[in-house]
Amino acid sequence: MRLRSAVAAVAVAVLLPGLGTAFAEGEVDYSARERELGRAAMDAKRMTFTGDAERGWGLFREKGCIRCHAVWGQGGDSASDLGRTRTLGHVAAGQLAGIMWNHVPRMWERMEEGGIELTPISPEEMSHLFALLLFIRYADEPGDPIEGQRALERHGCDHCHSINDNGETVGPDLAKWSRFVNPVVWAQKMWSHAADMQETMEEEGIAWPRLEGDDLNNIVAFVRSRAFSEKKEYLAPGSIARGKKLFSSRSCATCHIDSDEEGNSVGPNLEEIELPSTLSGVAAQMWNHAPEMLEEARAGGEADTEKLEAQEMADIITFLTARRYFLSEGDPEAGQKVFFVKQCVVCHAIDEQGGRVGPRFNPLRGNASPVLMAHVMWRFGPRMLGEMADRGIPWPHFEGSEMADLIAFLNEETRSEKD
Ligand code: HEC
Ligand code: HEC
Ligand code: HEC
Ligand code: HEC
Repeated sequence: MRLRSAVAAVAVAVLLPGLGTAFAEGEVDYSARERELGRAAMDAKRMTFTGDAERGWGLFREKGCIRCHAVWGQGGDSASDLGRTRTLGHVAAGQLAGIMWNHVPRMWERMEEGGIELTPISPEEMSHLFALLLFIRYADEPGDPIEGQRALERHGCDHCHSINDNGETVGPDLAKWSRFVNPVVWAQKMWSHAADMQETMEEEGIAWPRLEGDDLNNIVAFVRSRAFSEKKEYLAPGSIARGKKLFSSRSCATCHIDSDEEGNSVGPNLEEIELPSTLSGVAAQMWNHAPEMLEEARAGGEADTEKLEAQEMADIITFLTARRYFLSEGDPEAGQKVFFVKQCVVCHAIDEQGGRVGPRFNPLRGNASPVLMAHVMWRFGPRMLGEMADRGIPWPHFEGSEMADLIAFLNEETRSEKD
């Protein structure tokens, strides 16, 4: 109720010319908004979202993003190709929300010029768009076959594997795998043969090949260039939720204990180490450590590492990459500074402190998340921009961890006890 009266006091909405229709003046449907907040809150607490990259791609078209942005060459060219932009390369979700805040005034300007209507994006839809942007970020761009050949030689794979029968034959010929486009499938095949490969390597006096960076991706590109396959098999994008389940059910968690549990873990805490940013990079990292994992498994009485299907591997790796992506814990104290410095305080109050032009932030406590902040920016931004212009307040720009810090501040449980 207090929220409602705070907003009822807001003067007639100042809307961007031409953008007015998307957000009806004055009336905000609070029950609907609260439902949305609640849904986003669930995602925030689980540190994951229910987002689905494929639905995100559908929304990318529906919401008109594709009219200006392309993804890997598909789409408009009046704004950056989001599959190629390096800015999105290593960002965490909080930074992504910040980047979107930074760009919206220009986006809206362009939309107005192009007569593109600004359609609302619900938190759920925003989570699908985030899933898409996340997927784009960790998906591997096609590898380099020349580098791949070098990697194959450097790691001694060609000592045991031929491609189209041109080499030795201790291991199976790799040509028949050329239909697998995704390096994760390769990693899965290698992973499931790790025990046998290790044995053969010991016999042949070959050190376990430790793959770096794009090695695996490049090796796949090389094999595919040598043994072209008409038939191509792709993997569906990994699912964070399925990966999370598999991580516990397929024994990974027994050695890699989550940080919130007590006790010593056999393997490193995967939240604390820096994992590569692409799927094939993480897959290669698992492969690199297969001998140590095998050793531990044997010490524990298991004959082998856990067998995984390719889709399971993709799901687990997606979960591992995405989990880190959501782990950008902000610093609430730094976030409090952001709240003041970006002048949110002029219009928004926390408890009784701050302006009354916009709603109090109290209901956001425990609910704030990058997806929610991006949703809010899209939904309330035009009106905020108008109110800011009236007061000579510049549109806020977020750098580095500032958005994550602000989110941490908004969520802080003990905030009202402090002063
Ligand atoms: C009318 C054109 C237009 C539309 C429609 C549009 N954008 Fe943008 N977008 C821009 C412009 C202009 C920029 C800023 C500069 C650039 O990236 O070229 C930008 C920047 C971005 C950035 C930051 C990119 C970076 O490299 O920092 C993201 C992320 C983004 N937009 C996502 C979206 C999403 C998601 C949608 C759909 C909901 C969308 N945009 C709709 C024009 C548009
Ligand atoms: C010391 C010999 C040896 C080396 C070196 C070696 N492998 Fe293998 N590899 C094998 C053997 C043996 C198998 C089959 C194991 C089995 O049948 O269970 C195998 C299986 C595989 C498979 C699965 C094939 C299938 O049929 O499922 C792939 C993919 C693979 N290796 C890729 C590689 C790559 C890439 C490298 C270099 C990084 C490499 N291997 C290095 C011996 C080796
Ligand atoms: C029997 C114990 C055990 C099991 C089960 C196990 N791991 Fe490991 N894992 C380890 C150990 C030990 C290391 C560290 C090896 C080292 O330090 O070189 C490791 C390392 C890793 C690494 C590389 C970390 C780094 O330092 O870069 C990844 C990724 C990984 N494991 C993922 C998994 C996944 C996914 C599963 C489930 C399919 C799994 N592990 C199951 C013991 C295990
Ligand atoms: C010039 C005034 C003004 C400033 C400055 C301002 N806002 Fe707003 N904000 C508003 C108004 C007005 C609304 C409500 C719009 C509506 O209901 O249509 C709003 C709505 C919001 C909401 C939605 C709240 C809810 O309960 O759903 C959030 C979150 C928000 N703003 C965040 C921010 C952040 C973060 C900053 C600082 C970076 C900021 N605002 C700066 C005026 C402002």
